[in-house]
Amino acid sequence: QPIHLHDYQLPAYRVTHTELKFDLSPSATRVVARLHLERHSERQEDNLPLVLNGEHLKLLRVAIDGQELGAGEYSVDAETLTIFEVPQRFLLDTEVEIAPESNTALEGLYLSNGMFCTQCEAEGFRRITYYPDRPDVMATFSTTVIGDAASLPVLLSNGNPVERGELPNGRHFVTWEDPFPKPCYLFALVAGDLEKVEDRFTTMSGRDVTLQIWVEKENLDKTDHAMASLKRAMKWDEDTYGREYDLDLFMIVAVNDFNMGAMENKGLNIFNSAAVLTHPLTATDAAFQRVEGIVAHEYFHNWSGNRVTCRDWFQLSLKEGFTVFRDQSFSADTNSAPVKRIEDVSFFRTAQFAEDAGPTAHPVRPDHYIEISNFYTLTIYEKGAEVVRMLRNLLGWEAFRKGTDLYFSRFDGQAVTIEDFVGCMHEVSGQDLSQFMSWYSQAGTPEIDANGHYDYAKSEYHLTLRQRTPATPDQHEKLPLHIPIRLGLVGTKSGDDLEMTLDGETLGKDAVIHLREEEQNFVFTGIAEAPVPSLLRGFSAPVKLRFPYGREDLAFLLQHDSDGFNRWDAGQRLAMLALDDLIAAHRNGVEKVMDVRVVDAFRTLLTAKVDDKAVLAEMLTLPSEAYIAEQQPVVDVDAIHAARTFVKQSLAVALRDEFMAVYGDHQSDVSYAPEPGQIADRALKNVALSYLMSIEDEEAVALTQQQFEADHNMTDVRAALTLLTHSSRSDLADPALKAFGEKWAHDSLVMDQWFSIQVTRPQPDVLERLKFLMQHPAFSLKNPNKVRALIGTFASQNRVNFHRIDGEGYQLLADVVIELNKLNPEIAARIITPLTRWQRFDETRQALMKAELERIRAEELSPNVYEVVEKALAA
Ligand code: ARG
Ligand code: ZN
Repeated sequence: QPIHLHDYQLPAYRVTHTELKFDLSPSATRVVARLHLERHSERQEDNLPLVLNGEHLKLLRVAIDGQELGAGEYSVDAETLTIFEVPQRFLLDTEVEIAPESNTALEGLYLSNGMFCTQCEAEGFRRITYYPDRPDVMATFSTTVIGDAASLPVLLSNGNPVERGELPNGRHFVTWEDPFPKPCYLFALVAGDLEKVEDRFTTMSGRDVTLQIWVEKENLDKTDHAMASLKRAMKWDEDTYGREYDLDLFMIVAVNDFNMGAMENKGLNIFNSAAVLTHPLTATDAAFQRVEGIVAHEYFHNWSGNRVTCRDWFQLSLKEGFTVFRDQSFSADTNSAPVKRIEDVSFFRTAQFAEDAGPTAHPVRPDHYIEISNFYTLTIYEKGAEVVRMLRNLLGWEAFRKGTDLYFSRFDGQAVTIEDFVGCMHEVSGQDLSQFMSWYSQAGTPEIDANGHYDYAKSEYHLTLRQRTPATPDQHEKLPLHIPIRLGLVGTKSGDDLEMTLDGETLGKDAVIHLREEEQNFVFTGIAEAPVPSLLRGFSAPVKLRFPYGREDLAFLLQHDSDGFNRWDAGQRLAMLALDDLIAAHRNGVEKVMDVRVVDAFRTLLTAKVDDKAVLAEMLTLPSEAYIAEQQPVVDVDAIHAARTFVKQSLAVALRDEFMAVYGDHQSDVSYAPEPGQIADRALKNVALSYLMSIEDEEAVALTQQQFEADHNMTDVRAALTLLTHSSRSDLADPALKAFGEKWAHDSLVMDQWFSIQVTRPQPDVLERLKFLMQHPAFSLKNPNKVRALIGTFASQNRVNFHRIDGEGYQLLADVVIELNKLNPEIAARIITPLTRWQRFDETRQALMKAELERIRAEELSPNVYEVVEKALAA
């Protein structure tokens, strides 16, 4: 039952205006809808029935132009309401009953902690009322919310409040009007006992906007950072893209039970509380930065998503890829730009590359799906952002900005396609982007094999690039892509970027070359000294690039590359070479020997005066086990863990005093602020401490305990607690965990961290601990944050224990998936991911993982889990 992009048809009927009335009750909410409908001007075929989506609805009444319909005039099934004959233009009235309290899928209208809230993207609105639930049907909305005045003092929806009043029986109402036509996936409603923090923003044209963040009373002290981030984002979008906010009111609401990070509903963004609440004592630097990024992301959707939306869900990356690119740029401008890029790319190269290499690989614009919720993926979001970034780089910022201006003005109020977006870029730049379009339709990660040599006699550098994209499950043939490669040639004598000339054209010291063919040769002339090439600077395309670098080359780039990102990457490549040797040694039972060149490189990093400490902290961080695994043909989790631990401990032994000095030099007692300088200091100090704790150095143990007890801010406390918990000494772990768990028992978001820290323990007792924690009163399978903190973290981050050779880790995950399949299919289909990657492991593990997938398949499955499991088993 998959649906296909090529089957797209215009909607038969348009809704020009939608009037909704909600009479809220946990078990029986009444939804009265009046839709102003008309036949689409381009769908004039005879007798088109009106087909509306609707699921889990109890239909109470249906009328056309005031005339109640009789039994033979319509039909209802589990997914649709069909009315056989309707006029060209008419009013449709329906009344349905729904039960928010039994909605555990968290799609549509549901209850979270006694508060009513909605999540409609992608197809949740059909659980609220009968409607053409597709993004190319855009209407203005007028919404009346009625609820109990005492328990639900706050009643919110999209747009502006236009009327409010008292009703009999202690009830009250508020009517909201949203003047901007929108698809129903942007509808939102919130009702609860909430309190607000308020601020204002004056837009560039002088509009005075009221900003509100609505939270439960006890969280009022956790909104400052989100509010400040919102104001920065509003200003940034004006300065950078010329985009201004368009209503008098902008609201954010924090909700505890939420499937995703947040949702960009018009004028009423709804957030997972983890993505909006921060406090120095409860949230880490990483959490502060995540909140800033998500607040900006949702705000930016007001233009890239809401004013201009998607024609159909195949175009999801049109709004998500573009908006992620926008939020990444914003965060880069607000924080350390190179570190932001390093973080994004290291995440991308592990998680998205793995997705692209797995059974659910799909293009940035998929051409078919069974369940759209399964396509809110790293490919749509992150790879989509990389594709937009390449466009920006191909066109240059000015032309790109002309392109976005054209896109926003031409398509304002419309639901459009990726061709419409790229078409604007083509129009303003005159660039031929036809080959580039394959980035949207072709799945899989392109692999580039690069080779080069220096011709002393001619002073030329010859570079050969060969590209190949491996087959993915639905696509066996792959076309060569248009791949922009930013590069420099770093002189081995001078240590500087050399002036490059290609085909008689001067390129400068840092330039982009274009790989379009399967294989291309580039001859750079006038290269006066032998260079080391610095390729794919800034990760200029989402590809894997191999080059036969020697360790000396990498050590050289690590010191001299003018591109911060590639300097970091050289260090990662150098560490990878050493790790590869150690993984082989572990496998072959040979004694492990640490590569002194890595030790020397780290010594230089630790002792040289580096001005960008944030980048330094990244450079001192070894490739993660997940990243190392991505580089192996068959993943050997135990060898990877052993090799990485060995490198870390060897560095700690060899550079103990240097790490200690770095730790000592970056103590600070200034009051906490999530600003780049402080964040860099904390990152550096904590990375040094983690090396020292890997050898359980006595002085480091004392320092870690001190840092934990000082309770200065959550970044330092969490870093210390993690190190104590992950140590082999239970006399360190247990008391700290106990103290922390008792101190924060009242704070659900902190308890999530407490769960995560424990289940990332490398010790083999962790599975028992995990089972025990699943019984903890703070844990609930119904809360997605809890599921992610405990089960998700374990399965995706505790690789040695999840992949235990007795299969117990797999079994536990499968048990959870089977439970969640009934409660919350969207989360079930996500949490299962590590099991779907069975092809990457040895035969024993493959068999165990497949057996668990089979066990899941034998259940009565939601479409979400069905689609993922089928793909995984077909691979
Ligand atoms: N549009 C939201 C965002 O800002 C995500 C919504 C995802 N919803 C879902 N049911 N998967 O990225
Ligand atoms: Zn988004």
